[in-house]
Amino acid sequence: MEQTTEKKKRILSGIQPSGSFTLGNYIGAIRNWAKLQDDFECLYMVADLHALTVRQVPADLRARTKEATAMLLAAGIDTKESILFAQSHVPAHTQLNWILCCNSQFGELSRMTQFKDKSAKHPDNVNGGLFTYPALMAADILIYNADLVPVGQDQTQHLELARTVANRFNNAYSPTFTLPDGYITKEGAKIMSLTDPTKKMSKSDDNQNSFILMNDDRDTIVRKFKRAVTDSDGVIRFDTENKPGISNLMSIYNVFTGKSMDEIAAEFDGRGYADFKVAVGEVVADALDPINAEYEKILADKAYIDNTLKEGAQMASKLANRTLTKVYKKVGLYQI
Ligand code: TYM
Repeated sequence: MEQTTEKKKRILSGIQPSGSFTLGNYIGAIRNWAKLQDDFECLYMVADLHALTVRQVPADLRARTKEATAMLLAAGIDTKESILFAQSHVPAHTQLNWILCCNSQFGELSRMTQFKDKSAKHPDNVNGGLFTYPALMAADILIYNADLVPVGQDQTQHLELARTVANRFNNAYSPTFTLPDGYITKEGAKIMSLTDPTKKMSKSDDNQNSFILMNDDRDTIVRKFKRAVTDSDGVIRFDTENKPGISNLMSIYNVFTGKSMDEIAAEFDGRGYADFKVAVGEVVADALDPINAEYEKILADKAYIDNTLKEGAQMASKLANRTLTKVYKKVGLYQI
């Protein structure tokens, strides 16, 4: 029998430690991260440096980095299979960031919708880091020559920029970086706000009822779903354009039950929205409850979390430094 010695493809992804994770983060990213571990060589990162593009309370950022690590472990990231680390613990990211900033164009960075949105939201703090954010994200990905990047739909423009910059660098010097592809699942790539289903579910929303947090308890989850904005048509049918609220709830139900949109429509045919909303809340709570129990246990063990991050940073640094050394040579930095 022929033996397969093919190397596993590499995955890199990250998440900002800006408060508790939302159901959108879970469905769009984290849930997939855990699933991909068997088939890929995975690196997952708490993007603490990216969080600094918005003013943070230092003690909160420290606590949230620890909490984010605990939540990723609770959600199934297994350090026997994957490398889990904090971005700021691997200095090579910021070193490559500078080189990539010098290979990113002002026009390209200006076109990023997330930059435009965040500048509008924080007009008093439109800082350089916010502007060059996608170059740091490109560095995160390219420094490991990641083949695939599992993210939600809102990150596709940043990913495209990473490819553009990688391509530009490869052409200007010599082939160096792998051009990364997005890994974006059809279901759940964009979970919408529960109070305004035309907007992405986001933890920075002022309305607490618009998002589910991964560590909301069952009652809170069900209550928020019960209040979800839908429509007055009374029919459970998937139609994102005309029925964005119901379609969003159907997407969420689909993710946790595996039922198709037709099956969901049939299951709730003739039943009211109220029944459906409770059912969605229940399946979400069923999925999040065990993760939360595990999260509380892990969070209480600071030594375990610190040790995980320390080992992760060591392993990631080894890989990252190799790429950085090559890049420094190629761009003409004097070697001693
Ligand atoms: P962040 O922290 O905003 O979000 C983390 C992940 O969650 C996804 N996501 C969603 N998916 C579906 N529906 C939603 N409503 C929703 N909200 C968030 C995001 O798409 C993302 O995948 N810049 C990144 C972090 C980052 C990164 C990287 C990602 C830094 N370096 C390198 C990949 C590769 C960010 O701010 O994600």
